[in-house]
Amino acid sequence: MSQHIRTGVLNGVATIEIARPEKKNALTAEMYTAMAQALADAQADGQVRSVLITGQPGIFTSGNDIEDFMSRPPGQGSDSAEAPVFRFMKALVDCPKPVVAAVTGAAIGVGTTLLLHCDFVYVSDEARLAMPFVGLGLVPEYASSLLVPQLMGPRRAAEKLLLGDPFTGEQAVECGIANAVLPAGEVMAHARRVAERFNQLPPGAVRDAKRLMRAPQRELVLQTIKTEGEIFGQRLRSPEAREAFQAFFEKRRPDFSPFS
Ligand code: COA
Repeated sequence: MSQHIRTGVLNGVATIEIARPEKKNALTAEMYTAMAQALADAQADGQVRSVLITGQPGIFTSGNDIEDFMSRPPGQGSDSAEAPVFRFMKALVDCPKPVVAAVTGAAIGVGTTLLLHCDFVYVSDEARLAMPFVGLGLVPEYASSLLVPQLMGPRRAAEKLLLGDPFTGEQAVECGIANAVLPAGEVMAHARRVAERFNQLPPGAVRDAKRLMRAPQRELVLQTIKTEGEIFGQRLRSPEAREAFQAFFEKRRPDFSPFS
């Protein structure tokens, strides 16, 4: 288990809390492994009726840990499907129990794309969301190239995926990514109340209903994750991405002018 992923079960709700505030909750391979394990544990535990994913006050997650990615890029080779990030992605896609996200603050990169795979999303009024993959020399991941245009139409998807424009919780609700925006101090309690409602519902019917709702696209989602992952893996090794990552750590704007 990672020290940066806190887990626990309370009143039928399995909580997965991302807790690495000093690095803005950036996700390492070790943290993905811990989250995949927590989802497996929640699935196996008969006392658990729902899962709640949350972050820290002011930060949900800043996405993939860029340093970890640069030193251990996933997405290539025959064992790439077993990379921690892909194991986590698949575990969330296939989680049979309802998953509620409490977006306590900024949600960048996979911080936003993982929300596409949750059943309920509640966002703090202070949160900003963004999918800045292209500006990092990368491509959309976690089936966002499929699901974001489906949710909000190709025009608004282009703003968010090609330009990487950030957006507010209100905009996330408008375009179908989130259920509601709440004051920062209330988002966690609200999300928990929704998660706890499953204690009063028949778990078998909930499971069957969720499976039916997901079934028509499940294979396509998994295939898209794989296809995106292969291109993402190549792009991680590209000079464009190297320049973007270096610029991030040097706290300067990247210079893509040498590239054609
Ligand atoms: N990977 C690795 N380290 C990260 C990180 C990430 N995704 N996000 C933040 N950090 C680190 C910073 O390098 C910094 O480390 P330092 O204190 O050793 O210099 C620390 O976390 C604090 O981040 P900082 O950028 O100074 O905080 P901020 O409040 O000014 O900005 C964010 C917060 C989330 C807006 C900003 O950190 C950010 O944009 N992060 C990158 C997000 C991103 O591009 N994610 C997609 C990855 S595919």
